[in-house]
Formats: sequence, C-alpha cells, structure tokens
Amino acid sequence: MTRRDLIQKVLIGGTTVLVVPSVISSCSKEEDGDNGGNGNTGTNKFTINLTDQNYASLNTAGGFVVIATKKIIVANTGNNAFVALASECTHEGCTVTYNATSNNFPCPCHQSLFSSTGAVVNGPATVALKSYPVAKEGNVLTITL
Ligand code: FES
Repeated sequence: MTRRDLIQKVLIGGTTVLVVPSVISSCSKEEDGDNGGNGNTGTNKFTINLTDQNYASLNTAGGFVVIATKKIIVANTGNNAFVALASECTHEGCTVTYNATSNNFPCPCHQSLFSSTGAVVNGPATVALKSYPVAKEGNVLTITL
C-alpha cells in the first residue's frame, strides 16, 4: 500500500465516520414517572385507587384532594361523581380548594371563584381552570390529563 492509498483510505474512512450521526435523539413525549397517585396508565392518564388511604377523602361526597405533582384538584361532588380541575388559580397561581356546600372551587388568595366546570364565577381571575375528564371503574378513578 502506498502512502497515497493509505491517505485515501483514511479519508474515505473519515468520511464514513462523519456520515454516521454522532447523536440521535428521540422526540418521544416524556412519560411520567412517579405520579403521586397510584399509577399511570400512559402519558395522559392518571389513576387514583380509592382504597388508598392517601385518597380516602374522595370516598365521601364533598371530599377532595390536591395532587401537587399533577397540579390538579379532584373532588367528590356527590352521587358517585368526580371532578378534576387544574389546582392553580389562573389569577396568580394559588391553590384552589373545594367548597362542597356550594359545589365550587374558591381561591383563598383573592377570592376568585370557579364553578365545577372550572368556569370563572367571580374574579379577579378571568380565565377558567382547565377541566379534566374523570372516569370511575370500581375503585379506580382515571383522569385524562
Ligand atoms: S391567586 Fe387566586 S384569586 Fe388571586
């Protein structure tokens, strides 16, 4: 092999190396790990097992829980119905609560009030809380985020 042949092979080899992408990154949607609940059924699903003591309050009409890791509030609105809304007030981000007597979600910071659909009832907030579908099957709530 001549010096020229060697240089050509190195250059060809170098070209081959350059053609191979050094970094291939995927663009898959990030999956959640620990969700602060009982389980994830997929990227957009969050499940709550009502037999879990952490969620015992949801077994009573008027009970609610705030799941900080998901930034949602889940309430038992009675008659085996559940509501899940974004828990951060759209005014300045305080955490809303649930008022079972009036079936609405007040914000303790500046008294905004949201309906059970998340709509603004009273300001200063002007934007509704996001609402998430909740399905109940047996003792498991599945919330589609
Ligand atoms: S942060 Fe909720 S009303 Fe201001």
